[in-house]
Amino acid sequence: MKKKQLWFTLALAAALPLSAQQKPVYLDENRPIEERVEDALGRMTLAEKLHVIHAQSKFSSGGVPRLGIPELWTDDGPHGVRPEVLWDEWEQAGWTNDSCVAFPALTCLAATWNPDMSLLYGQSVGEEARFREKDVLLGPGVNIYRTPLNGRNFEYMGEDPYLSSRMVVPYVQGVQQNGVAVCVKHFALNNHEVNRHNTNVIVDDRALYEIYLPAFKAAVQEGKAWTIMGGYNLYQNQHCCQNERLLQDILKGEWGFDGAVVSDWGGVHNTEQAIAHGVDLEFGSWTDGLANGVSNAYDNYYLANPYLELIQAGKVGTRELDDKVRRVLRLIFRTAMNTRKPFGSMCSPEHYDAARRIGEEGIVLLKNEGGLLPIRLDEVKKVAVVGENAVKMMTVGGGSSSLKVQREVSPLDGIRARLKGKAEVTYVRGYVGDVGGEYNGVVTGQDLKDDRTPDELIAEAVQVAKEADLVIFVGGLNKSAGQDCEDSDRASLSLPYGQDRVIEALAEANPRLVVVNISGNAVAMPWVDRVPAIVQGWFLGSEAGNALASVLTGDVSPSGRLPFTFPVRLEDVPAHSLGEYTGERRRDTVDIRYNEGIFVGYRWADKQKKVKPLFAFGHGLTYTTFEYGKPTVDRKTLTVDGTVTVRVKVKNTGSREGQEVVQLYVSDLKSSLPRPVKELKAFRKVRLAPGEEQEVSFTLGRDALSFFDADRHEWVAEPGKFEAIVAASAADVKGKVAFELK
Ligand code: BGC
Repeated sequence: MKKKQLWFTLALAAALPLSAQQKPVYLDENRPIEERVEDALGRMTLAEKLHVIHAQSKFSSGGVPRLGIPELWTDDGPHGVRPEVLWDEWEQAGWTNDSCVAFPALTCLAATWNPDMSLLYGQSVGEEARFREKDVLLGPGVNIYRTPLNGRNFEYMGEDPYLSSRMVVPYVQGVQQNGVAVCVKHFALNNHEVNRHNTNVIVDDRALYEIYLPAFKAAVQEGKAWTIMGGYNLYQNQHCCQNERLLQDILKGEWGFDGAVVSDWGGVHNTEQAIAHGVDLEFGSWTDGLANGVSNAYDNYYLANPYLELIQAGKVGTRELDDKVRRVLRLIFRTAMNTRKPFGSMCSPEHYDAARRIGEEGIVLLKNEGGLLPIRLDEVKKVAVVGENAVKMMTVGGGSSSLKVQREVSPLDGIRARLKGKAEVTYVRGYVGDVGGEYNGVVTGQDLKDDRTPDELIAEAVQVAKEADLVIFVGGLNKSAGQDCEDSDRASLSLPYGQDRVIEALAEANPRLVVVNISGNAVAMPWVDRVPAIVQGWFLGSEAGNALASVLTGDVSPSGRLPFTFPVRLEDVPAHSLGEYTGERRRDTVDIRYNEGIFVGYRWADKQKKVKPLFAFGHGLTYTTFEYGKPTVDRKTLTVDGTVTVRVKVKNTGSREGQEVVQLYVSDLKSSLPRPVKELKAFRKVRLAPGEEQEVSFTLGRDALSFFDADRHEWVAEPGKFEAIVAASAADVKGKVAFELK
């Protein structure tokens, strides 16, 4: 270019507004993300790189202000968006514009067996997170239900790897459509709470790959999750947030994860391992960010100054650092710097509607003798509602998933509203459980104190029950420590607070008794034979009472199915009879052996000749009846890359509309390694009008037939005979059809 021309060009560029000048590559959203990442990385100083890989406050990490790269804001998750907290503390900040809609707990979502509900859930909670300007929503959780004592089971999706895989993917997609990343947690083997920081899990590779990893893998590979959270526990004697095998070999190696690994809050323990073993964003290393005795404790995080010192001393290079920064930049471009994301919304009528529909579809009718339910509104004039959980707010408490809600309809209020003008509703307490109502500064404002003795409370309940046409007991667990609550496990399978006694007394007083169990876990039911109707109610969120009333009155026909087995006794749970578990708090590292291997949940129950579960995996009744035809296959033999299609007709033979969950299990009749009697490999929820019949078809391929051969470290589909089992639950087989893999 001639000198004159050059001057002219420079002068023109200077005169143009910045927007008309060519954008740096990293700011240009039309460029491929990898180019933008490399461009931004190339412009960053060492200090800036270190700055973006660890927290700057309780829930945020710093950006690169010099380059206009913004901070990242995270928040819990997974049932709604947690209130704002103080900069360095767990305590809520006391804002008045951060109340949210609470969606039903993830156990309830899993119980819908409906991936459409999962997409709706993800979209809705994602919109709330987006509106609140969060970049990362800390959830969903997909740790497998290994023991009913685990205090955090309510945040997860049950015992089966296939069900949880199918249910997690749409949630991930729904959230991320909003330009908000999910953070799938807690990777991996985080299956109980007591000693969560010092439990070292010992599990064989077969169980790891077949049971504990599939839902994470599906979230990463099919859902394309942008972040994942390491667990608190150890595996192979390394904490999961700095675990070479889990993070480097499996997640980033085998699965090709291109997102960022977020540590659980306080889950990093050592700089060298954190550098080498794959955590990309460190959070919560000190509960109070200022407690380390220096002006900014965040600078002393394992991935901050201690990392810098190792680099300066020449002990580590910057290859790992660049990889971490690339992942964080990718995350920022996908979320915080994504200018094409929608705006989101909060507490909208649509979100309440979603919460209610998910709740209605997840509630499980466990038992319904004599058709006690739905409530016959023409006959029932006096209803007695008994039990603390009919009135107790359940959205506050339980640990990090605790919320500050705009409103929460209690079961009692929901039932009252629905029966208004039709039946008189009397409420009595029945028992006193946990009268607390505060979590990190969020208060329910409820006064649940009651000083009467259990005998007095039971006498009152019996009196009211005797005079009623129908009794509805609403009890179960709550979100206080030792129940369904983070950082603690339950002490036993039994219902707390003497509820069994109350239920027995009610059953004696009035045989027209419905028990509604609110929990995220299975509970023992020694009174099961004396109670005609039992409903599994979960933690249902803002619309709890409305959803419950819809199902009890039959506005909606129940269609939830259990995502985990209800055992009769704790000894029937393989983690307790074969494997190990300790509820004793310890300071040293506790080895916990998963000796039960792949035989978790129904995979164990199916093997038992004498012991039957209280309620099987996949169980749930409706207000109608279904008839199944004989299943057929399109071919009797298939090759290893081929598929087989199983077809079955299902007919609604009752007089009401209803939804059936058609479950397809596969049985490998002969194999070189022991295999479960059957494994869930497909399911479909179908809505049928009275008299309507539909053909449901499932196509099975190699994945559905394979097991993980640990010696060969690969999935193997062995030639031989298989059976496709069509069932309405793991214990209710409707038909079988054989085929052979050549
Ligand atoms: C929990 C995580 C949660 C994090 C932030 C941890 O104690 O295990 O699930 O996302 O805190 O609140």
